[in-house]
Amino acid sequence: MAEVLSSLPDDRAERYAMLAEQVAAVVAGEPSRTARYATAACLLSQAFRPRFFWTGFYVVDPHRPNELVVGPYQGSLGCLRIPFGRGVCGAAAERRQTVLVPDVDAFDGHIACDAASRSEVVVPVFDRQGALAAVLDVDSTELEAFDAIDVAGLERVCAVVLTTP
Ligand code: SME
Repeated sequence: MAEVLSSLPDDRAERYAMLAEQVAAVVAGEPSRTARYATAACLLSQAFRPRFFWTGFYVVDPHRPNELVVGPYQGSLGCLRIPFGRGVCGAAAERRQTVLVPDVDAFDGHIACDAASRSEVVVPVFDRQGALAAVLDVDSTELEAFDAIDVAGLERVCAVVLTTP
């Protein structure tokens, strides 16, 4: 699997495009959502280290549909549960839209799982029926670490995580 990561392009947009292809190739035929999320979290984290300080999924709890519960991630200890509407993850889940936060201290209600996090981007993940299944949370220790290239790239990766047959 190491060779999967060795040939990533320097250009970020191209890198995301290749990652989306790699995630799709690895998860193809895999019925476990956990395995799919773990694959995406690993490949993204490895491809963008050390810029990605925390990379992982908060999954919609099937028993509590208005609550996210932590799923596969790479990074320091994450909070276990986030209600819809709370924090950046909860906002993205409630709006069903990507939320880009250049400065977490300026985001009302930001949940500081790790005080080292300074900026973050959260992208919704939809299943093949279009239902919200999870959100992908990527954090950085740098302010303003993420831009439109990251948003488009992460959305591209999230679009294949559950929809690849
Ligand atoms: N900061 C997030 C919580 C998740 S952790 O950063 C891993 C938020 O405000 O939703």
